[in-house]
Amino acid sequence: MTMPNTTPIPELYVSAESAQKLKVEAGNLLSWDLTPRQICDLELLMNGGFNPLKGFLSEADYDSVVDTMRLADGTLWPMPITLDVSQAFADKIEPGTDIALRDQEGVILAIMSVSDKWVPNKVREAEKVFGYGANDLAHPAINYLHNVAGPVYLGGPVTGIQQPVHYDFKARRDTPNELRAFFRKLGWRKVVAFQTRNPLHRAHQELTFRAAREAEANLLIHPVVGMTKPGDVDHFTRVRCYEAVLDQYPASTTHMSLLNLAMRMAGPREAVWHGLIRKNHGVTHFIVGRDHAGPGKNSQGKDFYGPYDAQDLFKQHEAEIGVTMVDFKHMVYVQEKAQYYPANEVPEGCTVLDISGTELRRRLREGLDIPEWFSFPQVVAELRRTSPPRAKQGFTVFFTGLSGSGKSTIANALMVKLMEMGGRPVTLLDGDVVRKHLSSELGFSKEHRDINIKRIGYVASEITKNGGIAICAPIAPYTATRRAVREMIEAYGAFIEVHVATSVEECEKRDRKGLYKLAREGKIKEFTGISDPYEAPENPELRLDTEGLDVDYCAQQVILKLESMGLIKA
Ligand code: PPS
Repeated sequence: MTMPNTTPIPELYVSAESAQKLKVEAGNLLSWDLTPRQICDLELLMNGGFNPLKGFLSEADYDSVVDTMRLADGTLWPMPITLDVSQAFADKIEPGTDIALRDQEGVILAIMSVSDKWVPNKVREAEKVFGYGANDLAHPAINYLHNVAGPVYLGGPVTGIQQPVHYDFKARRDTPNELRAFFRKLGWRKVVAFQTRNPLHRAHQELTFRAAREAEANLLIHPVVGMTKPGDVDHFTRVRCYEAVLDQYPASTTHMSLLNLAMRMAGPREAVWHGLIRKNHGVTHFIVGRDHAGPGKNSQGKDFYGPYDAQDLFKQHEAEIGVTMVDFKHMVYVQEKAQYYPANEVPEGCTVLDISGTELRRRLREGLDIPEWFSFPQVVAELRRTSPPRAKQGFTVFFTGLSGSGKSTIANALMVKLMEMGGRPVTLLDGDVVRKHLSSELGFSKEHRDINIKRIGYVASEITKNGGIAICAPIAPYTATRRAVREMIEAYGAFIEVHVATSVEECEKRDRKGLYKLAREGKIKEFTGISDPYEAPENPELRLDTEGLDVDYCAQQVILKLESMGLIKA
């Protein structure tokens, strides 16, 4: 009997011999350094994961995908896969040019023959593909589109030279053809895939067991390790969690493989896309649960999509996708039965227990109990290793305020108090000290101030990541730059913005360094508060009005704030 799910699918790679030659020739071409998202896209283009695409979309295909979820020839394809580049790079390229596509270390992965170059209408793309009519930056892909992606798109076929290199979990990564060969070897005619970007808990295990039973199929656990939703558990931790629960599954009918996909969190369209990608990986059935690939809440606090919109859209296109949907309701634990049930099948009068993702994160943060009915001890232990309770995590206290406002003095007092408590290493990145050691070549233009603050943010984020306390005390006059630093740090730990709100009149009266006098005389240019702007923070974690208060009291206010946030224990 034939097994259509296991016959090889086309890849975009040339033979090893031609690759050698092409690589040498490509050395002379203009080259584009791929972004992390583009590397994920290119890998799936080249290995057939995005079959039938032969490269980055042309303008006609892009327009058609955005409007109709179909390529210009009518083939179902819901996601625009485009090569976004900077204006400066685009200016050097004309359709007809070949360019080399390089990874972040400069290795040439592919050659692209550019056939199209255009400036996309990003608002239209945002509304039609991601926002269900809204151009709302709360959607991670819309934020990416406007704030990360370049302004110009290039389209054209790709010739693959080599796969992107991965040094982590190599044995767990499979190309579509490797998975197809594996299924062929084992005679797996029916395979149901489970897509996930989260650690697996008991509810997921139950759901995947049921799906496999229902479809009478083998099970492929197919987690995404490319790019997922910002703020997700990192993939290293997740894969260790998956490995920890694999022995709960029967090895003869279950396989786990990692998928280097860059998700867009596009809900219904994404579900259809996931189905097509899984079909290319030799899968015959696909689990679509509640709120599949959901982006979270919009800026009005409402869900972007309905909880079962993804299932509806998938169902509509099921025949064309060529993969059968196994739909699942939300699974909940029923206390009296000591067992999981789909939410709509709970026996009457029973007690339902459930722990949401937000509640799980809270319990991890505060070091609280995570019950056995919810997850596996090995998974919880792994999660606790990477998300220690707040009192053991690193954090950054970021003072901002005018020159002479008292930032450095309070920051110093805070440092000493934290060192007295002990437990975590403390580093003070004071404005003057940073300018001496890290930023000695910089002046006080907006551009230079931004570079200075981002350097401080980078160092503070590394300290925070490694479990230390960073105290920063620059002027940091610009809101947008402070926000960028907050984002850098919040990826690893808490960010506490403290506005030292001493007025310019008071700072000038004190004039401890004599700088205000020189600024008034015009001898120092671009002086913050006198001849340069200071944008006061609107919602800092703490605002200190230093007038009439002593330093010790101010530092104590910060300590109390840290305590109330659970960052230090009384
Ligand atoms: S910024 O905007 O955050 O990069 O500034 P910062 O690095 O914190 O500034 C450090 C100290 O530089 C002195 N100084 C000036 N401040 C503001 N404007 C101008 N033009 C300027 N020239 C020198 C000033 O004393 C800052 O120290 P603090 O500790 O804030 O008093």
